[in-house]
This record gives sequence, structure tokens and C-alpha cells, in this order.
Amino acid sequence: MKKVSVHASKEYDVLIGAGLLETAGEFAKKVVGTGKSAIITDDIVNTLYADKLTYSLEKSGFTVIKKVFPNGENVKTPENTFEIINFLAENRFTRSDTVFALGGGTIGDLAGFASSVFLRGINLVQLPTTLLAQVDSSVGGKTAVNLKAGKNLAGSFYQPDLVLCDTDTLSSLPENIFNSGCAEVIKYGVIASKELFEKLKDGTKNDLEQIIAECVQIKSDIVSVDEHDRGLRQLLNFGHTAGHAVERFTDFAVSHGEAVAIGMVIASCAAYKSGYCEKNVYDEIKALLVNYNLPVSTDLTVEQLLDSALSDKKREGATISLVIPEYIGKAVTKKVSITELADFFKLGKQVE
Ligand SMILES: NC(=O)c1ccc[n+]([C@@H]2O[C@H](COP(=O)([O-])OP(=O)(O)OC[C@H]3O[C@@H](n4cnc5c(N)ncnc54)[C@H](O)[C@@H]3O)[C@@H](O)[C@H]2O)c1
Repeated sequence: MKKVSVHASKEYDVLIGAGLLETAGEFAKKVVGTGKSAIITDDIVNTLYADKLTYSLEKSGFTVIKKVFPNGENVKTPENTFEIINFLAENRFTRSDTVFALGGGTIGDLAGFASSVFLRGINLVQLPTTLLAQVDSSVGGKTAVNLKAGKNLAGSFYQPDLVLCDTDTLSSLPENIFNSGCAEVIKYGVIASKELFEKLKDGTKNDLEQIIAECVQIKSDIVSVDEHDRGLRQLLNFGHTAGHAVERFTDFAVSHGEAVAIGMVIASCAAYKSGYCEKNVYDEIKALLVNYNLPVSTDLTVEQLLDSALSDKKREGATISLVIPEYIGKAVTKKVSITELADFFKLGKQVE
């Protein structure tokens, strides 16, 4: 088992290893004490893992209730946030009781947001079950739901009390969903670690626990410096500006990780054509994404890519922060106007 500690407004541990669902109750008890617990999950994860978690929590002295949502991005709504809040209130939860978010990034974001507003903040344990959620969304405290106007537009910064990444859960992931998580892993390599990027050329399966720990460490280091996304943390948005547009205009048929893969190719293609990096940076990023069967282009027009950027949270007044790779292992942010962004996307869309 590996442990990464996050030093943000709340200090907490991320534990990574096999079999952690079986011992979740014991680990959680040490951090939040026992009391009432609410498992929030989706229908697929419920069938696979909720009994195991329930058993572990009850064995450690928690009482357990559960709310199950349909799987998929469309559950990230304000309405479902209130479903959870009302569910907790009806069951007389107090601030010393705990929400257990069991699932991928959609459940983590939804349950995390509800936990942050119920009683102005209730205990939260994240139990991510997708690769994407283990390396990214469960750590760092960003929670959000989608509005009609765009993705993740209502949310909060709310750090969990504990994150338990049970690597056994990844074995039941369909290949495309596993690969979707690999897009975020590749992102970490591009923005912060050439060594990780190189290692990914040999696949992930033999060294998964270590790879997850490396990604979490990178995220922890960034969040510890810039919890509220004012500077350094924006590097984690590499590929996300165009990616969010792809997700939205395909009505989430293209998953978050796949959309980020497309976004990274657009950003790196435009970066090399604008002279920010060498062509080989773009070539290497694209080739690695292709190795993981990830998509690398989109039919969306530049106008569609821009439309989403206009309501993007990263926009500050007339400018938007773009993340640009300089070389593998280092990226920088650059503030650009919407006109400059249009030109950038135009270059980036001409994928070679
Ligand atoms: N908060 C953040 O910092 C942050 C960062 C990155 C992404 N996100 C968000 O994360 C979401 C995407 O997360 P995701 O890719 O995990 O998607 P997801 O949660 O929708 O999960 C994808 C699918 O996998 C299924 N699944 C989950 N675990 C499984 C398992 N162990 N075995 C079999 N099936 C399983 C789910 O039921 C679902 O159908 C997006 O909403 C994105 O915006 C948030």
C-alpha cells in the first residue's frame, strides 16, 4: 500500500492499494470516528462494490444508509445535489456523520458537492473506483455539478477527510473507461514528469499502484501550493478547455478522459505551430494517446470549441488561461484573448 499526504486547508491521506474496500471502515473510523454513514454510488458500482463497503463499515461500528443514482455524467445536476441533501436531512445526519462517495468522478463530484453544502460541510470519504477518479478527481477538493450553460459551473472547493483508492476495483473497468483514465495519467506526465511519461510507453498494468501514487503526488504538490486554482493548479487543466467543449457538444458520448485526450492534441499541435515547443513534443503526446486507443481529433468547429470556452470557469474577464507544453515534463500557462484562442484552436484543429 502507498500513502500520499495532501497539505491543503485540510490535511488528509490518500491510500492506494489492493483490498482497501474491505478495510475501509477501520481506516475511516480513525479519521472521522464512527456514526452514521451514507454511501452515495451509481447503479453499476452499487452492484459490484457497495455490499463490500457496507460490510466493512458496519463491522467497524458505522450505521449505513445508501443512495444509488443511474451511472453517467448526467447525474451531475443541482437537482441530484438536493436529492442527497434531503436524504441526509431526512435521516437526521449531523456534521459528525459521514458521506462515502463510492464510484467514478461523476459520483465523487456530485457527492462531494452535496457534502460541502449540507450543514455547510459534513465529513467526506472518497472511494474512487475508476482510474480517472483515483489519479485525479477524488484528490484536491474540486467538486461540481453541471448547469445547462456548461460543465462544472456550480461547485465548491471542499477537501475530503480521507481518500481510499482500492486498486482491485480497477479490474472490473471496461477497457475504454480504463483508457479514459490513462488520458489524465498521460497529462501528468506531460505537465510534470518526463519519467512517468516514458514509463507509460511500456503500459500501466505491471506498475499501476506506483503510477497512481505518482499522479496523486503530483496533484498533491500542486494543490498544496495553489488549492484555489489561481495559478499553478491551472496546469492540471491541460487539454481541458477544448475537452469540455467536446464533452458538451457530444452530449457526453465522448467521455471526460477521451475529450481531454483530444484537447491535449489540439493544444500541443497549436503549441508547436505557434513556436512554443518542438514538433516532437506534439508527436510524442499524440503517439502515446493513440497507444492507449484514445481519440485524437474532433469534427467540432472552432466556433463550437470557443462557445464552450466562453462559459469556461478558467476565463477571467476578457482573457482565458491556456496550458501549453514546453517539453515533455513541463507546461506553462498563458493568458490569451478570445480572438487569440480562436486562432490557437484553428492551428490545433489541423492535426497531422
Ligand atoms: N473534481 C475534479 O477535480 C475532477 C477531475 C477530473 C474529472 N472530473 C470529473 O470526473 C467525471 C468523470 O469521471 P469518470 O471517468 O470516473 O466517469 P464516471 O464516474 O461516469 O464512471 C464511468 C463509468 O464507469 C463505471 N464504473 C465506475 N467504477 C467502475 C468499476 N470499478 N468497474 C466497472 N465500472 C465502473 C461507472 O458506473 C460509469 O458508468 C467527469 O464528470 C469529470 O468532470 C473531476
